[in-house]
Order: sequence, then structure tokens, then C-alpha cells
Amino acid sequence: MSKYIIQGGNALEGSIPVKGAKNSVLPLLAASILTQEPILLQNCPHIADVENMMRILRELGCRTHWQGDSIFVDASDVTNGEIPSALAGELRSSIFLLGALLSRLKWAKVAYPGGCDIGMRPIDIHLRGLRELGVQIKEEAGYLLCEVASDARTADIVLDLPSVGATENLMMASVFCKGKTVLRNCAKEPEIVDLQDFLNAMGASVRGAGGSVIVIEGVDELHGTVHTPIPDRIVAGTYLIGAAMCGGNLTLERVRAEHIASLLAKLSKTACKITTGNGKINLISKGRLNSLDWIETTFYPGFPTDLQTQVLTMQTIARGTCVIVENIFETRFRPVGELRKMGADITVRDKVAVVRGVESLHAANVTAADLRGGASLVLAAMAAHGKSEVREIRHIDRGYEDMSVLLRTVGVDIQRKDE
Ligand code: EPZ
Repeated sequence: MSKYIIQGGNALEGSIPVKGAKNSVLPLLAASILTQEPILLQNCPHIADVENMMRILRELGCRTHWQGDSIFVDASDVTNGEIPSALAGELRSSIFLLGALLSRLKWAKVAYPGGCDIGMRPIDIHLRGLRELGVQIKEEAGYLLCEVASDARTADIVLDLPSVGATENLMMASVFCKGKTVLRNCAKEPEIVDLQDFLNAMGASVRGAGGSVIVIEGVDELHGTVHTPIPDRIVAGTYLIGAAMCGGNLTLERVRAEHIASLLAKLSKTACKITTGNGKINLISKGRLNSLDWIETTFYPGFPTDLQTQVLTMQTIARGTCVIVENIFETRFRPVGELRKMGADITVRDKVAVVRGVESLHAANVTAADLRGGASLVLAAMAAHGKSEVREIRHIDRGYEDMSVLLRTVGVDIQRKDE
């Protein structure tokens, strides 16, 4: 079991470079099997979810390895369309491979991804869209057996919800469909735009990403390319919230401020001073913050669910009361019990949390239960008085390069212990 030991109370001073976005690199790795030519993704994060996706690609017959912070993929020998359940269980985003495998091999066998730490995570929208593209799907013994029918066709598909994964899956499933496929009510996240840019750099013809309608003109084949994924807006937001809570002067480098405009708007209301420009965000915080009053998570460009527990944690020591409504995932208040051990005053009813700010948190030994909730416990420990332990940090390793390395460079007293 690995844990962080954190002596709270230090301000954050200095700058942190932000790597490529986990939620971009994962679909881009899936899309890399759409070509038989080499792919290079630059400035990628060394995190568990990316390592697991590379392991899955090898199972499919790809050669993939790190070259510094770049990931090389050669998918010329992809012949296997079956994703082993052990690996699919590890990584929910293996479902993104479904669309790419169907385009490449015309068949795929994927374990039905279960729910995860934050909710049911259904895939009905993925499957409905694939069926409209002429994919035959049988569910058997926990597996999805998929095959592209001979009369595979284009379609005009309306997604029931602007699902990120379903939008990405259907974009990849239709790149070779002759004619024009239209996707409506699409997710508008920056990662969708990044996937469009990547596919077009490979020779695809996709347009409209970032809006609610995406049009894909089928092409015969795709070629290799070199691509730098967009910076990780959730990692960036996490560290900005940490600086807001602990006080100090933090600069993030290689970030796109417009990708976290909703967070920056909120932070500006809490007496933080924020300046952006030239791929940087600087935040100056002088201590106790005003409460945000109301936070409601919704689809992009609204406030992102992936920053909800981090901002909830910030509210535990704000001046006043904040109401937080989590509309996207049904169990995304998991760190609340652990935050209470540190003195937080939070009441949760269904998808609403009421956070009454206290003067300060005190140290405690807490346990991470999911990726973003775990990162939030680190933020709480950084602001708390005394020495805390955050345990089961394997959850955090899924989406953050070792936080202790980065945070020590900006003054946080944090050690990692791998037992
Ligand atoms: C992506 O997950 C991200 N993961 C999540 O980040 C992120 O929280 C989520 O989008 C929302 O922004 C990756 O990109 C790898 P969705 P995804 O499909 O695609 C419902 C993190 O911490 N839905 O947009 O699985 C679903 O239940 C992770 O980095 C259906 O009902 O999310 C949810 O309520 C966590 N049926 C809503 O849509 C479906 O078929 C949004 O889910 C699909 C989704």
C-alpha cells in the first residue's frame, strides 16, 4: 500500500509544468490503431491509466513504448480485436477502443466495463450509436461481441446525452464509413477537439468538434503523425485549487486557461488574484477565502465534475456556506467521510452537498477511494494543521504523475512511502 505523508500549512511558491491530458491521451492511443503507420504522442504523463492503455494496445498486437515523455505506437500488426477482461476492468476507457477496433478489424470482443468508484458508468449511448452505424452487438457472458455488418452504413445519430466517451467512440467508428456520418448532441470538451485534430492530422475528414454537431466524411485510410495532446485541464485545476487553499504564488506552465474558464471565474470570486497569458496561469492567494455559495457540475463548458471534489475541499475552509450539486456521476462525494475526519462540516443528500466553512482542518489519516477524491484529500492535508497520511494513493497514480515530486518543488512538505 502506498501513501503520502503531508505536513500541512505551507504556502505554494513557484511554478509547475503541466503535461498532456489523461482524457486526451487515452482516446488518442485508441485512435492510433486506425493507421498502420507510426504515431508519436508528445509531452504525455507517466500515469497508471496511460500505462494500462499501452498494455492493452500490446495485447492487440501493437508495439508501443516510451521515448522520454513521448509515446511511440506502431499498430501495423493489429490482428487481435479482443480486449482481455482483466485489463478492461483496470481501465474503463478501454471502451474507447471499441470504435477504433471496429474501424480497423470490423470486429471486437470487449468485456462489458463495470461501474467504477464514481458511479454506474453505463454505455448504452455508445452501443445505440454503434448499432445505428450497422454494428451487430451481442452481449454474452459479460462480453460485448461486436461485428460490422456487410451493409455498414453512415447514419445521422442523436446522442441521448453529450457523453464524452460515446462521442469519441462514434467519431472513431465512422472514420472509414463511406459517405457522411452526422453526430448530434455531442460532448463539447476540449479533448473532443483534440481527437478531431489528431484524426484530421492522420488524413481523416472530421469537423464540428467543440460544438454539438460533428460531421465525419469517410476516407479510405489514415497515415501516421506526430501530435502533442492538449494540456491536462483537470491536473491544472487541481493544483490551482491547492494554491488557493494554502495561500502563496503559483504559476502553471504549458496550460490553456480557456479550458478551465469555469474554474477561473469561480476562483476569481474567492479573493484569489489570477493572471493568464502566454500558456501560463498565475494565482496569488493570501489565505482564507470567501465561500463560492453555489457550484453545479454540468457538461462542458459548464463546471466540470472532475474538479468538483477539489472545489468542495476548498469550500471546507472558506468563509461561509457553499451548496454543491453533482449532476454527472451519482457517487462523486466519496471523500466527504474522510474530510469529516479532518474537521470538515459537510452534509450530503443525494446529489447535493452543503459545506459550512470552518476556520481550518486538522490532520488525520485518510484513505483515497477514487482518483479525483484522492487528489482532493491531498489538497486537504496540505491545508490542514499537522501531519496527515493519505493512503491507497494508487487511485491518484491513475491520473497524476507522482504528486510528491511536483508539489515538493513548490514548497509542500510531502513524502511518498511505498510499502
Ligand atoms: C469522461 O468519462 C472522462 N473520462 C471522465 O473523467 C469525465 O468525468 C467524464 O468524461 C465527464 O466529463 C475520460 O475521458 C477517460 P461521459 P466518460 O460518457 O466518457 C452518462 C476522470 O476523473 N452516460 O461523458 O465515461 C454517464 O453516466 C474521469 O478523469 C450514459 O448514461 O463520461 C454520465 O452521467 C472520471 N450512457 C454522463 O453520461 C452512456 O452510454 C457523462 O458521462 C455514457 C454516459
